[in-house]
Amino acid sequence: MKKILLLGSGELGKEFVISAKRLGCHVIACDSYAGAPAMQVADALEVFNMLDETALRAAIARHQPDLIVPEIEAIRTEVLLEVEKEGFEVIPSARAANLTMNRDRIRDVAVGLGVRTAKFSYADSAADLLARAKDIGFPVVIKPVMSSSGKGQSVAKTAADVQASWDFACAGMRGDRQKLIVEEFIHFEFEITLLTVRQRKGPTLFCAPIGHVQERGDYQYSWQPQSMTPEHLKAAQDMAQKVTTDLGGAGLFGVEFFVTKDEVIFSELSPRPHDTGMCTLVSQNLSEFDLHARAILGLPIPRIDGVEGASAVVLADHEGTNPSYTGLQAALSEPDVDVRIFGKPSTRPFRRMAVALARGPNALQRAREAAAKIKVV
Ligand SMILES: Nc1ncnc2c1ncn2[C@@H]1O[C@H](COP(=O)(O)OP(=O)(O)OP(=O)(O)O)[C@@H](O)[C@H]1O
Ligand SMILES: [Mg+2]
Repeated sequence: MKKILLLGSGELGKEFVISAKRLGCHVIACDSYAGAPAMQVADALEVFNMLDETALRAAIARHQPDLIVPEIEAIRTEVLLEVEKEGFEVIPSARAANLTMNRDRIRDVAVGLGVRTAKFSYADSAADLLARAKDIGFPVVIKPVMSSSGKGQSVAKTAADVQASWDFACAGMRGDRQKLIVEEFIHFEFEITLLTVRQRKGPTLFCAPIGHVQERGDYQYSWQPQSMTPEHLKAAQDMAQKVTTDLGGAGLFGVEFFVTKDEVIFSELSPRPHDTGMCTLVSQNLSEFDLHARAILGLPIPRIDGVEGASAVVLADHEGTNPSYTGLQAALSEPDVDVRIFGKPSTRPFRRMAVALARGPNALQRAREAAAKIKVV
């Protein structure tokens, strides 16, 4: 039986634990607060801040896991680089976790591999940011190099917006690096996540592209498959293959691209299941969580196939604790609709609390209708 130390216990971690436990794993779920979603289904739990070097080392030493599986970006990844040298296995690799923790590092890797990205630059002061934004040309998107789910991210339409963007980014920043990325605003037709599976033995596999819509830097709904030209799909797969090969290791990656009329542009990547991939819980024979579990355990993945499917998030609109949910009767009365309530112990405005899923024709519309019926109270 493989022992897994899961670093981060959100809703994606919860589904991963379910997949891993179905394959006989023992999972210790870690997060900074008690009662986190993945803890509710794991064998054991640890509550500590994963940016705390000492606490992270202690948890690894105490549990002696076969596999260390990061679920979030905000981890003291230097510790992972060290323990990997000592013989622990980090999924997909300590280098991948380290490079993707900060947007600048993974962006530099992509550029080094000749992958097409938006024009971008880095800034470490408001004055610097203004100069860089002018070079790139407005509008620009501004993001802290270390953040996730759109935190601290804004669009500056003109020079007058830059100071506010700087302040917002500094407030939303995680970690200790006061550094921002400023990039060209891409007027894309749609954006996709290409779930890419690196196997221990066997070729890299791709799921059908997932389309999604983001608001406030956070995904609102996603669907699979997103239709795209065979040339664009091939371009995305080639870039995903290049970057994931460079990162190495086994596991599923969520590779994000912007698709314009003429080209496919690499945006960023998660070396783990992706939030927009929750639609695969109903759309694929093996969900992104099943695929991640099989890939890291070295189990075969003979085929990935699917039907039309979609997900739509259910957000809280107020601060509170021990939430309950209304509208399940109505949402679940539709065929081929399902719901995942994450079981988070507290709410705040815009916090993602559940997701509605639909499969079959018109999945996106049905998932969104179901999500709209559910209220967090
Ligand atoms: N250069 C850009 N041009 C246009 N839109 C952008 C650009 N960069 C980001 N966005 C929009 O903002 C969203 C979030 O950006 P990004 O994926 O870089 O941040 P994130 O914080 O990692 O978000 P998440 O954690 O939800 O993936 C993108 O999915 C896209 O909709
Ligand atoms: Mg993203």
